[in-house]
Amino acid sequence: MKFVISLGGSVFEGDVEKIKKFAKTLDDISEIHQLFIVVGGGKMAREIIDKARKLGASETMCDYLGIAITRINAMLLAFAMRNSAKKIPKDFIEAEELSRSHKAVIMGGTFPGHTTDATAVLLAEFVKADLFLNATSIDGIYSEDPKKNPNAFKFEKISPRELIELVAREEAKAGVNVVMDVLAAKILERSKIKAIVFKGEPENIRKVIDGEKIGTVIT
Ligand code: UTP
Repeated sequence: MKFVISLGGSVFEGDVEKIKKFAKTLDDISEIHQLFIVVGGGKMAREIIDKARKLGASETMCDYLGIAITRINAMLLAFAMRNSAKKIPKDFIEAEELSRSHKAVIMGGTFPGHTTDATAVLLAEFVKADLFLNATSIDGIYSEDPKKNPNAFKFEKISPRELIELVAREEAKAGVNVVMDVLAAKILERSKIKAIVFKGEPENIRKVIDGEKIGTVIT
């Protein structure tokens, strides 16, 4: 099967052992399945964006900085994996071409104006993925930010339309931290690709691939 995984930048914030564990899991899965992994920028992107904004950079410029960081993280993961292409594609056509010779292809962001979740969903649409996996910092989609409201509830299942309405309330700024950006939700709606949002741990990626029910299903 063909899977696209959006891997949040938080993965790269720990020690290298964490990156190694992800790399091993992803390598093992790619022995059987075709993988495309889109890597986020995490804290490093947010810090650099914050600095640039204070220096007067436009939001678009901040997005370009975010993209640069995501590509650095993509390179880090590519070094750690045995099955992945070492070249980090700049667009979806290049990613698709690389997948003909590699069981795993890793990329970062592409264009300003959205996050790597949207990049990953667009890639999933482009390559006609069987499933989109969003490995993120929380264990699913909540009615509200659970850090701000302890009464927020987790959705077992949500439609792309409901998700669009939920995330449309959020602010559109470079480096902003929401569960999924609105463009990603809209592309999910039009592509009809099934998606699962779950806490980004190596064993959880394995569980989702094996069909175990965790996180929130978007369908
Ligand atoms: P991320 O995808 O890391 O954003 O991209 P995020 O919401 O912080 O995600 P997590 O926390 O890693 O899961 C970092 C920033 O890079 C720019 C945006 O400014 C984004 O907020 N970016 C990224 C783009 O403009 N285009 C892209 O295709 C990707």
